[in-house]
Amino acid sequence: MTAASEALSSAGPRHIAIVMDGNGRWASKRMLPRTAGHHQGVEALRRVVTACVSRQVKVLTVFAFSSENWKRPADEVSGLMTLLAMVLAKEVPKLHKEGVRLQFVGAREYLSERVQIALLDAESHTRSNTALLLNVCFNYGGRWDIAQAAAKLAAAREPITEESLAQTLSTAHCGDPDLIIRTGGEMRLSNFLLWQAAYSELVFSDALWPDFDAQLLDDAIGAYLARERRFGLTSDQVSDAAERPS
Ligand code: IPE
Ligand code: IPE
Ligand code: MG
Repeated sequence: MTAASEALSSAGPRHIAIVMDGNGRWASKRMLPRTAGHHQGVEALRRVVTACVSRQVKVLTVFAFSSENWKRPADEVSGLMTLLAMVLAKEVPKLHKEGVRLQFVGAREYLSERVQIALLDAESHTRSNTALLLNVCFNYGGRWDIAQAAAKLAAAREPITEESLAQTLSTAHCGDPDLIIRTGGEMRLSNFLLWQAAYSELVFSDALWPDFDAQLLDDAIGAYLARERRFGLTSDQVSDAAERPS
């Protein structure tokens, strides 16, 4: 590998997205209610946010609640809504101190008015922070995202092109993830960032989300760094482009 291409490929991911899966199994293994797993999952997210800030990752997008998760038992769904409200109250000041900008991504009109106000407050309070953009996907689905973008363009009588759709998706403010990590051992996207994942590197971890930590994040980043992203080109073309002075 040439020095230039090594420099290029050793550039860490700017944008990491995570499917935080395995909370329920973590709790079941300990004979605890599933909600206890979700509470412990918040601690894992705290660790990963801090690790991302110190590794100069610029964007972290996490899947917290999918469009399909409403179908879970009512007590689990209400436990997750209560947890969201609690986390907003408790964690936003700490995240703000760390320089984290919070952005919620998803169909928020279905959430309670109280939670919607808390989301807006958290976003406006942290708007000027630049250390890390933390996108929390809540009531998010990749199909919803593509459909809402197409509907907006159609209503505005705008042409539907790859560019206009990308600019209207709920992630238009941050672009596509370089690396998508899924914990919990399943190898699927489960309706996460379907459009945006087109050229993301995928890394699957058997760790259950509440056990995830900075070391496992580094393992995933290590796997990412060992990949060659070709975007449809040949390997030679990628090396040539890396050697050319910019
Ligand atoms: C992910 O963990 C969190 C949410 C989907 C809200 P799960 O709750 O799906 O945990 P498992 O997959 O059942 O272990
Ligand atoms: C994906 O996990 C959604 C979140 C992590 C929020 P699920 O547990 O809902 O996915 P499936 O049902 O195993 O595909
Ligand atoms: Mg799951």
